Amino acid sequence: ATEASEHDLIIIGGGVAGYVAAIKAGQEGMKVACIEKRGALGGTCLNVGCIPSKSLLNNSHMYHQILHDTKKRGIDVGDVKLNLKQMMAAKNTSVDGLTKGVEFLFKKNKVEYIKGAGAFSGEHEVTVNLIDGGEQTLRGKNIFVATGSEATPFPGLTIDEKKVVTSTGAIALESVPKKMVVIGGGIIGLEMGSVWSRLGSEVTVVEFLGQIGGPGMDAEISKTTKKILEKQGMKFKLGTKVLKGDSSGDGVKLEVEAAKGGKAETLDADVVLVAIGRRPYTAGLGLENIGLDVDNKGRLIIDEQYRTKLPHIRVIGDCTFGPMLAHKAEEEGVAAVEFVKKGYGHVNYNAIPSVMYTHPEVAWVGQNEAELKEQGVKYKVGSFPFSANSRAKTNLETEGMVKFVADAETDRILGIHIVGPNAGEMIAEGVLAIEYGASSEDVGRTSHAHPTLAEAFKEAAMATYGKAIHY
Ligand code: FAD
Ligand code: NAI
Repeated sequence: ATEASEHDLIIIGGGVAGYVAAIKAGQEGMKVACIEKRGALGGTCLNVGCIPSKSLLNNSHMYHQILHDTKKRGIDVGDVKLNLKQMMAAKNTSVDGLTKGVEFLFKKNKVEYIKGAGAFSGEHEVTVNLIDGGEQTLRGKNIFVATGSEATPFPGLTIDEKKVVTSTGAIALESVPKKMVVIGGGIIGLEMGSVWSRLGSEVTVVEFLGQIGGPGMDAEISKTTKKILEKQGMKFKLGTKVLKGDSSGDGVKLEVEAAKGGKAETLDADVVLVAIGRRPYTAGLGLENIGLDVDNKGRLIIDEQYRTKLPHIRVIGDCTFGPMLAHKAEEEGVAAVEFVKKGYGHVNYNAIPSVMYTHPEVAWVGQNEAELKEQGVKYKVGSFPFSANSRAKTNLETEGMVKFVADAETDRILGIHIVGPNAGEMIAEGVLAIEYGASSEDVGRTSHAHPTLAEAFKEAAMATYGKAIHY
């Protein structure tokens, strides 16, 4: 081991939380090192999450659209073939470009990049098991833990990333499975289920709850989304639990039954995707060496300034509280550095958007009706269907709606929920509105260009305090 060097900040984990914090610290003139064991920066998001999944979602959508949605547009196409190898290569090109881009940004901002697995060897000390061999010990005035999350396993099913896969296997299948069963109808299940369904798989989603979309999705939006996905060919078994699985034969057999109990049924699949949520990843960090605890969900416990009980050690991103989203991790990366450097920082957890990148997309920010009911908040609702929006009509993409939920008395926007074309881009306006404490009337009285999908957003706002013009 070499002599320990002193840093202002050591960051364990080079995912979105860690690399953003590292760049920010570099910009603030701190002597910063970022330790990453994967051999590439960007974490789950860039390597096996957001980026590769969105590449496959985009290109599988184009393939599906060319196959099924051109004739009525006056485009006759000839022989359309899937080249899965090239689709995967396109995905890898996007991933490689972005992870190398982060490495470049590290150099630009004088961040020291240490390739290896870091573990606490003292309260101010991290020892790295280097990828290239050997060990290096670093001393830090401040240390951030940004070690992310991993897929929650399904008891009794062994993940081999070939037949029984997590999202990591699902973004890298070598052929299109004839039958795919997805356990969990949350974001990963619906995004990756969509990809393989569009490429030709018969996809069945088994969801324990009575609705799809995972935590946070508004019930009405979820119902609409389910209908749209069903039309695209996906099958759903809601209120259903998987009892056990067997992958010892050619394919996989899953025994399922109604969540309330009932007759068991066997589902056959070539590939099973386990997508029942993710859990914090802190294995091998040596938390026990410094007495740091995790809660019953495995999350490192912190205060509002991201500090553990050892105040120079902070935690950001998926391995602590809050939604497991890249943009949330990124905000925390910046805020945590600001707390160290300036003593203040800020993340508005009420204004973090969620986007599901299916087609059409689903996006929301703030609270949904069920949450408000539970809190006893009096609210009003305004919605507008894309079928009444001129741009959606010209695009022949009229499924879905925009829905506003505002305080019944003050008209302050409490939540915005969209299923429809470009929902993921459109929600940015909603996030800004909530961030600035806007009322639905503020949005309804703001000019939106014609003809755009965003007019549906404006008209949903108008419907909340008065009436929409076009519906
Ligand atoms: P991670 O990205 O998991 O990074 C942690 C890093 O720490 C990893 O690279 C790991 O190798 C490293 N590490 C762990 N332990 C050590 C150690 N001891 N020493 C050194 N390094 C270590 N979010 C979105 O907002 N939008 C999306 O579209 C989206 N799509 C997703 C799709 C999929 C399939 C998945 C799985 C996730 C998706 N997410 C998405 C979630 C997003 O990827 C995470 O919220 C985000 O990556 C969290 O960032 P993080 O830095 O906290 O953790
Ligand atoms: P999720 O929490 O979104 O959904 C899991 C679903 O599985 C829930 O609907 C749950 O009810 C169901 N479930 C749990 N146990 C089950 C069981 N035993 N049988 C049947 N169903 C069961 O989790 P998911 O989809 O695994 O994604 C993990 C995280 O990754 C998400 O929380 C999200 O934050 C992040 N992510 C974000 C994306 C985005 O922003 N577009 C894309 C992909 C992932």
